[in-house]
Amino acid sequence: DWSAASFVDTTVAELKAQVGDDRVILGLSGGVDSSVAAVLLNRAIGNNLTCIFVDHGMLRKNEFSDVMHDYECLGLNVIGVDASEKFFADLAGVTDPEQKRKIIGRDFVEVFNAEARKITGAKWLAQGTIYPDRIESLNITGKVIKSHHNVGGLPEEMHLQLCEPLKWLFKDEVRRVGRQLGMPEHLITRHPFPGPGLAVRILGDITREKVRVLQDADDIYIRGLRDYKVRLSGEEARRVLAAGVPAAMTDGEVEVSLYDQIWQAGAVLLSTVRSVGVMGDERTYENPVALRAVTSTDAMTADWAHLPYDFLAKVSNEIINKVRGVNRVCYDISSKPPSTIEWE
Ligand code: XMP
Repeated sequence: DWSAASFVDTTVAELKAQVGDDRVILGLSGGVDSSVAAVLLNRAIGNNLTCIFVDHGMLRKNEFSDVMHDYECLGLNVIGVDASEKFFADLAGVTDPEQKRKIIGRDFVEVFNAEARKITGAKWLAQGTIYPDRIESLNITGKVIKSHHNVGGLPEEMHLQLCEPLKWLFKDEVRRVGRQLGMPEHLITRHPFPGPGLAVRILGDITREKVRVLQDADDIYIRGLRDYKVRLSGEEARRVLAAGVPAAMTDGEVEVSLYDQIWQAGAVLLSTVRSVGVMGDERTYENPVALRAVTSTDAMTADWAHLPYDFLAKVSNEIINKVRGVNRVCYDISSKPPSTIEWE
């Protein structure tokens, strides 16, 4: 019978035995998995762990500084690298989704390695890989659907060994471990976010301006999901509580936010599409934004989330009124398969 408390005790002891006094490098992404892996290692070996957090410029609004702040509060030894200039320069004019992913993956490895080389005497590379990540990469047909970007191709001369303390866990177990470690709830319940960031949510080429527009739309959407509370009872309430989501409970009903009810959500900028609109007396000819929200347990399959109409109406109004360059909002009602969660 699996328990987060015994997982933490056993894993911390195992990590101490495995790593000893060696220095360890870990790439942080801001996501749950790498953050939990970092806090576990930090508990085992303290400042012998150095974390690297690369900002490729396509994170969500204020994400780099917010997450850096969280990491510092957790006592992690983190190096934050703003490499956005390089990524934007290398992506300029590139429109093909796979090529965008390849460039981001390659640049990421380059930037990460340059930092890793500065950490002299490091013996290990730690990663927040979880069980479903490993299943998804064991693709039987060998067909690349999307080249997922991960840290790879580390400097040969460093001879790093791989350390993956979460490799047997599922996402809900990782979240329980995070709670057991006392990590803040907003870090633990964060939705998954793709390595290439908003680049796979902007159709066509990437510019700083498009990223800014999408960040603003996405921020309105995500804040709306967090603010909108739903009351659940019966089976639905039990499922939420069983997953360990801390929810206020009254008269057998639990209150959770829409954000905590779904697996993942984000806005997509359809920047290769323009449509006509009207603002005051003026004609507009601008880009639509598509909103995506799915329920899932492991991202291998996913259903579109049936968000309440009043919520969609409010968010749509707010995006169109506040985000310049967007004059239409659509809601994506496709499930995976045959669609994927991300648009690119
Ligand atoms: P798709 O779009 O393939 O996404 O249905 C499945 C899940 O994976 C995330 N995703 C990525 N995660 N690097 C990652 O670490 C990537 O390159 C990447 N691409 C997609 C996606 O957000 C969803 O949770």
